[in-house]
Amino acid sequence: MELAGKVAVVTGASSGIGAATAQRLAEAGMHVVAAARRRERLDELAAADARVHPFTADVADPDAVRALAAHTAATFGACHVLVNNAGINAGRRLQGPADLDELARTLDVNLMGAARCMAELADLLRASAPARVINVGSVAGKVAAGMPGYGASKFGLVGLSEHARPRWLRDGVAVCQVNPGFVRTEGFPQRGLSGTPAERIIATADDVAGAIETVARSGQAERTVPRWYRAVVVLRHVAAPVWRLAGSRL
Ligand SMILES: NC(=O)c1ccc[n+]([C@@H]2O[C@H](COP(=O)([O-])OP(=O)(O)OC[C@H]3O[C@@H](n4cnc5c(N)ncnc54)[C@H](OP(=O)(O)O)[C@@H]3O)[C@@H](O)[C@H]2O)c1
Repeated sequence: MELAGKVAVVTGASSGIGAATAQRLAEAGMHVVAAARRRERLDELAAADARVHPFTADVADPDAVRALAAHTAATFGACHVLVNNAGINAGRRLQGPADLDELARTLDVNLMGAARCMAELADLLRASAPARVINVGSVAGKVAAGMPGYGASKFGLVGLSEHARPRWLRDGVAVCQVNPGFVRTEGFPQRGLSGTPAERIIATADDVAGAIETVARSGQAERTVPRWYRAVVVLRHVAAPVWRLAGSRL
């Protein structure tokens, strides 16, 4: 799909992968509605590129997501690419009732936030077809790694994408996943890897933004960033007992 002149909505555009994606898609000639809660960050992006249009929205707030969709329809009359990138990194284990609130909040932002955006923008995406929904999942949505609330939200997002794709494709909307591995950003500082040999496998936000731009053009179902992390996913599925044994040792 040619991107120039078309319209994208990017959530979580105020930092990290979302900010890099908004910049990239704008450089590709798209009008980008950049959504997040921190308006001043969005204004900085817009000041650097007039094709970026800031919109303040919390994806956990149904009214705010409805307003985002209405604003996009009223201002541009189309949405060709929706990038569901807004996400939080929940740090707690699930050990007792005190951990449930954080788990629920994580699901609400990372999973329901994407579902809300898909639902509210569905009509506009269909009317703009060919179009894409790009859900930013995670390798942690394919293999168990890290905290259970975060992993559950990303497994859920992968499932949402895979279930929605066949039906949405009939209307010309390709629902795609981009699953990053470790990326150093504000919300995911990767402190545990600092100073270790594993630091070399950390990707950049721009690596992921580049993959998102490629998927926006191609509509491919799934892309892992960096690509070689797919080997880990394959190992998990073809040799699950080996994976579980390794997980229990770690
Ligand atoms: N970094 C990694 O290692 C990694 C790996 C795999 C997947 N991912 C995924 O990549 C996505 C982007 O993360 P990142 O690494 O770029 O982290 P980041 O720099 O912390 O960015 C997160 C973005 O999400 C936004 N956000 C958070 N809660 C929101 C809400 N309720 N409503 C609207 N926007 C919200 C934040 O903006 P405001 O605070 O301004 O709202 C921010 O722009 C996330 O979905 C994350 O799970 C990251």
